[in-house]
Amino acid sequence: MRPNLTPDLDLATHLSDALREAGFDGIGITRDAYGPGEARAHAMVRAAADAIGLETACDAAGNLLMTLPGLDRAAPVTVIGSHLDSVRHGGNDDGAAGVLAGLAAVSAMRRAGFVPARDIVVLAARAEESGSWFPTGFPGSRAALGTLPPAALAARRLDTGRTLAEHMAQEGFDPEAVRAGVCLLPPSRVAAYLELHIEQGPLLDAAALPVGIVTAIPGARRLRAARVVGEYNHSGATPRAYRRDAAIALAELAYRLDEAWGELEAAGHALVVTFCVLATAPEAGFTKIPGAAAFQLDVRSLAPDSIDAAYAALHRLAAEIERRRGVRFDFGEQLVSLPTPMSGEIQAALARAAGELAIPCRCMPSGGGHDAVAFAQAGVPAGMLFVRNQNGSHSPAEAMRAEDFAAAAAVVLRWAEQA
Ligand code: CO
Repeated sequence: MRPNLTPDLDLATHLSDALREAGFDGIGITRDAYGPGEARAHAMVRAAADAIGLETACDAAGNLLMTLPGLDRAAPVTVIGSHLDSVRHGGNDDGAAGVLAGLAAVSAMRRAGFVPARDIVVLAARAEESGSWFPTGFPGSRAALGTLPPAALAARRLDTGRTLAEHMAQEGFDPEAVRAGVCLLPPSRVAAYLELHIEQGPLLDAAALPVGIVTAIPGARRLRAARVVGEYNHSGATPRAYRRDAAIALAELAYRLDEAWGELEAAGHALVVTFCVLATAPEAGFTKIPGAAAFQLDVRSLAPDSIDAAYAALHRLAAEIERRRGVRFDFGEQLVSLPTPMSGEIQAALARAAGELAIPCRCMPSGGGHDAVAFAQAGVPAGMLFVRNQNGSHSPAEAMRAEDFAAAAAVVLRWAEQA
């Protein structure tokens, strides 16, 4: 006999509203990682978990674990979670929705007196938004698993310039224990990980589907600190043939790599290519030819050879532009991550759960990276559920409909009952 459980949407709604109010910065939502914004959100979520009688614990890195005890307390646990930090001026649901879906599921179980086979841990992970805060991949969830490379503790928060270790210590956590790999969720103790997250692209909305089952998370090759060096000179007195204009050289590289991306797509490659930053140096100014420019490049795909093809085009175009324009490209350090498939078993179980609930869904790859990567790469079977979301992502305009969250949370609950 299956219990007739429905997610505790009141809890999720109240908590979501409270998080929105606390995180509003006048433009959007800002919950800064290992700063006051994230700390407020963790305190509110922890209070809600205490109120529904979960066991709450905080690990050395400040990740919050909220546990509903199962029948077999020695068995490896099921983890449902996501992150509570946000980008600067972001939306309220990116990250938080996954934590609230977990709480809505275990609260429903608790209310109904349903005891799962194994412990269910709702995880609020720290510091997922690497583009806004610490330029390192999933430090929170990796620390939760004990797989954070110690070097990541030296990553500096982009706005404060202080290291991850310093920020952890300031928030009252224990970076030396993190460095030593002390953790509460060693991979051998985790049976499965599920993350609900807003879809950060337009595909579910375009397909008129509330829910997506994620098949894989793309890999990436990124340049965070690339530059092009030319020569500063007088904008009035320097004829065209004498110029070494770094800005024009970079503009040409960006434009032509975009064309090369189109050609790769036409040849059957699936990838995304983004110049996230194109900027003249601070020395640039009126009446000067730009002598230096900085850029950041983000190339992602499920297929490493498609990423390699984009980089081959990048190097070919850069060499040609260097010769013709008298500039020099310096690509700096390259950050590489591998594509991460989600567990086939979890995908199948999610599809079954959605089918039982008559919730229409489709399988789809993720565009962005998520905490699920840290779990999958630690060898834990990991899955993700996307919720339809309007108006894009990493912006105050992010908008997930309540009924879509309800549908996805119901799938999470149905999955968790049987996990
Ligand atoms: Co997110």
